[in-house]
Amino acid sequence: MTQSSSMADSARLGPWHDLPAAQQPDWRDHPAYPEACDRLAAAPPLVTATEVRRLRSSLARLTETESLMLQLGDCAESLYECTPRHVAQKLRVVERLADRFGELTGRSVLRVGRMGGQFAKPRSQATERHGAQVIPSFRGHMINSEIPTPLTRQPDPRRMVWAYDAGAEVQRTLRAHREHDDRLPAGDGPWSSHEALVVDYESRLVRQDPDTGEAYLSSTHLPWVGERTRGPGDAHVGMLSSVVNPVGCKIGPGADPADILRVCEALDPAREPGRLVLIPRMGRDGILDALPPLVRRVANAGHTVVWLCDPMHGNTVTSRFGLKTRLLADVVTEAVRFRDILLDNRQHPAGLHIEVAADDVTECVGGSVESEDQLHRHYTSLCDPRLNAEQALELIEAWTK
Ligand code: PEP
Ligand code: CO
Repeated sequence: MTQSSSMADSARLGPWHDLPAAQQPDWRDHPAYPEACDRLAAAPPLVTATEVRRLRSSLARLTETESLMLQLGDCAESLYECTPRHVAQKLRVVERLADRFGELTGRSVLRVGRMGGQFAKPRSQATERHGAQVIPSFRGHMINSEIPTPLTRQPDPRRMVWAYDAGAEVQRTLRAHREHDDRLPAGDGPWSSHEALVVDYESRLVRQDPDTGEAYLSSTHLPWVGERTRGPGDAHVGMLSSVVNPVGCKIGPGADPADILRVCEALDPAREPGRLVLIPRMGRDGILDALPPLVRRVANAGHTVVWLCDPMHGNTVTSRFGLKTRLLADVVTEAVRFRDILLDNRQHPAGLHIEVAADDVTECVGGSVESEDQLHRHYTSLCDPRLNAEQALELIEAWTK
């Protein structure tokens, strides 16, 4: 679904705008497309340059002091769950898990939510079958609806504006929470993060830092590039290389280390500690062979990165009843292996990037969800299966043993 764009767009939006971009919605002929783009371009920034600089120095400090980071939230945020009440509930889980992580390790924990913009999903399959019908896959509320009909799965560019408005509501609650949290010495944040997937959306939210004149991405504090869109010569990496935010990159088990080094060079040419957050998601078994050489090569190339383990995305399986799930035992095994591989290579395992729900879901098997038979009890994820807070605590406890 690669799209090209006009010369005028690339002059305005950056030289990377004409590079190939995977996983983009096909909506540029939609009658609402021009207005949606114009509205985003004229909208106020969702996060400030000062906030982005603060997070960047926190990450630099994290690499120096070997403190920790916890990044968590939904696989796909819902546009309908961005009210102050919903966000407060999500933040209670973030704080509870981060506090526990801090207590068990005696280190401070930087808190980052997958929230305020995690509305777009890359998909392995462009379509899915519903009964006799084959319809487009759900791609996140920024693009289409989860309701499985041909009509509701059409991409609608007005959704970018709805996502922006919902993101603004989330940022207001996050900001109030940061300002009123008197326990900040225990940690830092909560900051926002999401996969910077939809180039039409993200590119219109690139803004100038009023103090330094540098470009920053104002849609979120910490954008990351996903496993399916991290091509070193592609638009996503180009876009993130042009902004001063700290940036993440997911890395699957099949990644070519030379490719990852090219991504590191593009995103961190100045070798600034904490600029890059590398997030392997290799699977319980895949991590054993794939991670050690990568860790060594990144260190040898002079990048001081924040290594986070995503033990979710390499461990997805389909249950007997057809529901996607993850086994907590696999998740724990990958995380512990990650930690040990980093330590064996004299690098700092900085923490976890996990999908966790704010309420008591039964989407992954483990802990109180004793078997696959119980998954249907409270399975509400819009996309991938999330841990509930108790399961996430078990993971954090296993990491710290
Ligand atoms: C995700 O984080 O939800 C995701 C799709 O990750 P990845 O790019 O690692 O597959
Ligand atoms: Co996911």
